[in-house]
Amino acid sequence: MMTNRKLLGAAVVHALLVVGCRSRAAAPPAAEGRGEPVAAAAAAGHPADELARLDPRTPVPLQPMMAWHQKQNMMEHLVAIQRITDGLAREDWEEIASAAALIESSPQMQQMCQHMGAGADGFTELALDFHRRADGIGEAARARDGAGVLRATATTLQACTGCHAAYRQEGVDAATWQARTGATHDPAAMHGGH
Ligand code: HEC
Repeated sequence: MMTNRKLLGAAVVHALLVVGCRSRAAAPPAAEGRGEPVAAAAAAGHPADELARLDPRTPVPLQPMMAWHQKQNMMEHLVAIQRITDGLAREDWEEIASAAALIESSPQMQQMCQHMGAGADGFTELALDFHRRADGIGEAARARDGAGVLRATATTLQACTGCHAAYRQEGVDAATWQARTGATHDPAAMHGGH
């Protein structure tokens, strides 16, 4: 239950955030007091650029299709974790093993991670380490070891949060991606074909 004091606290925090954002937006002197919307917009910059400046994580350059593909993978990762915890609560070992298979190591997974991380040092290594940690979930499930499933899931989640703390997507066009990775984008490679 939310007390009045908590509500008040939340309102104050919100107000501070709004004021903070406003004063930052008004900071460039060129945009002040002249009533020139175009100049103001130019000084504030594009919202996507502003977001990129606020976010200190290492950018992973990706073409839009790759970025969307990565987001789909990520959503699938979270569904796998959800299914694993649900399976564990019911001691449904087959469900746990089949959900874990979505995030386990495989040659296709390796190829995908190399492709996604081609423009960001260290990203692919973290990704492969994540999949190796996830391998332990299926192993524990097949041994019907509930505590082992939990431990391997926790270790896997550490890899999720570690990578999220370190990297973010950066949408780039094909020419920029090629320049930053020295590679060409082969959509077939993303689907395990070659
Ligand atoms: C090797 C790096 C890495 C690992 C490991 C990783 N992620 Fe991510 N994840 C990312 C990046 C990069 C993004 C995009 C962040 C951004 O929007 O800039 C992301 C985004 C997400 C998103 C948001 C997707 C969306 O719709 O925008 C979810 C959910 C997510 N990850 C779940 C997971 C889960 C769950 C795991 C582990 C089971 C995991 N990720 C492991 C790198 C990683």
